Amino acid sequence: MLRILLRKIMRVRLRVLLWIVCVFTVSLLVTFWTFSDVNDISETIIDSKYPVIVWWNMDFHGISSIKYCSNGVKCHIYGKNDNGMQKYNNVGAYLFYASTLDFKNLPLPRQPKDIIWGLFHEESPRNVEELLHEKALSLFNFSATFSRFSDVPYPLQHIEAFEDIRSKKHFIETSKKNELLNEIAPIMYLQSDCETSTERDAYVKELMKFIKIDSYGVCLNNKELPSKFKDDYLNNLNEDEFLAFIARYKFVIAIENGACNDYITEKFWRAIKVGSVPIYFGSPTIRDWLPNNKSAILLEDYPTPKRLFEHIQVLMHNDRLYDEYLEHKTKQLITNQRLLDEHSFRPYQYDGVKNIDKLECLICERLHDKINGQIGVHIVNKSHYDCPKPLSALTLKVNPDNSWVYSWEYSRSNADSIYDKVINGD
Ligand SMILES: *[C@@H]1O[C@H](CO)[C@@H](O)[C@H](O)[C@H]1NC(C)=O
Ligand SMILES: *[C@@H]1O[C@H](CO)[C@@H](O)[C@H](O)[C@H]1NC(C)=O
Ligand SMILES: *[C@@H]1O[C@H](CO)[C@@H](O)[C@H](O)[C@H]1NC(C)=O
Repeated sequence: MLRILLRKIMRVRLRVLLWIVCVFTVSLLVTFWTFSDVNDISETIIDSKYPVIVWWNMDFHGISSIKYCSNGVKCHIYGKNDNGMQKYNNVGAYLFYASTLDFKNLPLPRQPKDIIWGLFHEESPRNVEELLHEKALSLFNFSATFSRFSDVPYPLQHIEAFEDIRSKKHFIETSKKNELLNEIAPIMYLQSDCETSTERDAYVKELMKFIKIDSYGVCLNNKELPSKFKDDYLNNLNEDEFLAFIARYKFVIAIENGACNDYITEKFWRAIKVGSVPIYFGSPTIRDWLPNNKSAILLEDYPTPKRLFEHIQVLMHNDRLYDEYLEHKTKQLITNQRLLDEHSFRPYQYDGVKNIDKLECLICERLHDKINGQIGVHIVNKSHYDCPKPLSALTLKVNPDNSWVYSWEYSRSNADSIYDKVINGD
């Protein structure tokens, strides 16, 4: 996700860079012509006739630009600028990119008192554990996260395109999949990150005792990827050829490395896209986002590897039952109204750049409301980024000895002290 985002940003930045070069050249010429000094770029900020928004720790915008939002609302927006930061003395809002946020380096003291802080957080808690705790979240006034309760929600961020759910581009009919069982296992596993809070390797290892699983990644590896995929496969997971490779499997294991409400990653959506049945564990709210009731096999419904194996055995011997899991392909059916609504009401969310744009405009509008004296207190709470303590896939219980679980709990006191520092100046 981030990589795609950054690639997009680079593209945008290239354009911005060209602009800057042009503007710079022109201003140099003007300078020579008038024999006057070039103005310090940060001086102009103070004179901006629009509210000023600064991305504190992310360079989404090069040096600066005017942001045009709906209803003719405009703001002046800046990327991070480590050298000139203290000169930004008329900032209306700071925006923070969670995954690279360093809590030791915040724009403090938080002044003026009514300054708005916005948080963009699209990734799993592994990147910044303090934000698992409400104290740290509550430093921010508005959020853009995958949670449906965020101010700019994007629970569907990891669907590349909504049509993919129904698309039969990579889909392989069950009879053909049955023939392929001469060459491959019924289940595929592909992970390179083996120590997870959800203990997926422990689960898969157990399941392997009952049924054949082709494991191509670093974790529990037992099969080589075809050589054409070997180099850099992590960057080619969404290439057509690779999707066709996955589509041959009846089932794909999709166990998240973290468990947050509404955090459903491409592990799940990729299986849906190619028409393989995901064996899923992770987000506690997964049921709310399944295309149909039976679009995935959820671990919690078959609470031991043996029980899950028995269920898979049934599906292996009954194509009609197996096909019930694929109605989004075979009947082009999506019955989940919440999913359909989410898609039609918030069509922006498949594109990280648009999610950023939405947050910027929301903040810009609030800053204009503030000028007009119309803004109440608004504070981010736990529901905007809600990651309960992860359960082990194997035991379906919290394992306090799991190092992630331990460290996440441990980060609570960090969150407390950051809060004290920002709010009480301790
Ligand atoms: C999904 O399952 C529930 C419970 O079995 C049922 O009430 C509901 O009608 C089903 N929804 C769809 C869309 O099939
Ligand atoms: C923004 O959040 C801070 C920290 O929680 C809070 O003190 C302040 O009142 C909030 N401001 C607005 C305008 O909501
Ligand atoms: C948390 O935030 C949501 C959305 O902003 C709001 O609807 C809810 O009332 C808040 N919950 C609490 C306990 O303040």
